[in-house]
Amino acid sequence: MRQCKSSKKHPCDTHWKRPHRISSLLLYTVMNHSTASPECVFMAQNLTKVYGEGGAAVQALRGVNLRITQGEFVVLLGASGSGKSTLLNILGGLDNATAGTAQWLHQGETHALTGASDAELTRYRREHVGFVFQFYNLIPCLTALENVALVTDIAQDPMRPEDALAMVGLSDRMNHFVSQLSGGEQQRVAIARAIAKRPQVLLCDEPTGALDCATGIVVLQAIEKVNRELGTTTVVITHNAPIARMADRVMRMADGRIVDIQVNPHKVAAASLSW
Ligand SMILES: Nc1ncnc2c1ncn2[C@@H]1O[C@H](COP(=O)(O)OP(=O)(O)OP(=O)(O)O)[C@@H](O)[C@H]1O
Ligand SMILES: [Mg+2]
Repeated sequence: MRQCKSSKKHPCDTHWKRPHRISSLLLYTVMNHSTASPECVFMAQNLTKVYGEGGAAVQALRGVNLRITQGEFVVLLGASGSGKSTLLNILGGLDNATAGTAQWLHQGETHALTGASDAELTRYRREHVGFVFQFYNLIPCLTALENVALVTDIAQDPMRPEDALAMVGLSDRMNHFVSQLSGGEQQRVAIARAIAKRPQVLLCDEPTGALDCATGIVVLQAIEKVNRELGTTTVVITHNAPIARMADRVMRMADGRIVDIQVNPHKVAAASLSW
């Protein structure tokens, strides 16, 4: 993936000039400021996404600006169709923006997600992003351990699959087939699979959407533990507003825009939530 000009100063403390389009490459000029702040993982500026063309065009994102810092737990709320999944998919390298910039920052280097090739995005997803979706997408004919091992076998510096499953409280279910696990257990296997490669970011799109409250809380406790103990930057999309109480910051989307960002002065443990 293309690297933008980087510096020893913190990437979040940069002033961004308008991107210049040169021979189909997006280049960014970064002017560094001196103030220190937590390390930035994602930056998006005027991010726009249009699906389709002409009369059938749907404007899914209408100029999103955001910064997400290392280790943050962000909850993304918003009505159906407000653009949450579209935004998460672009940050996760699953989709391309129509205009604007999205950047991922890692080990002092800034990488442009917008304009990256399919091969670059595939590598980015494989090495740095863990995804958790509403439906678990596990392979039914494999055990929990084998589902996680599918990822660790090809990762660069993975955990042991057993350790990933222990992290989500499934040590005693490792050798069960998917069909022998409850919905909440399957989602926790999906979380173990997502974190086993030690991703820099964990992106969760309605991870509790198919679960009852009690089971959802167990799943959220697993995500909370990963964020706290591994320091994995975490973004969770949810329709359950009470889940926002466990976030460091809550972003609300409406009609393709982030319309509100709130810092939680006191995070609430997942175990204390109900909906
Ligand atoms: N592949 C696509 N083709 C056309 N339109 C799309 C596509 N994906 C999403 N959209 C549209 O883009 C808008 C934003 O969709 P998105 O899935 O991001 O919303 P969301 O906030 O995640 O909604 P939900 O809470 O229902 O999952 C919606 O109007 C949706 O219909
Ligand atoms: Mg969605």
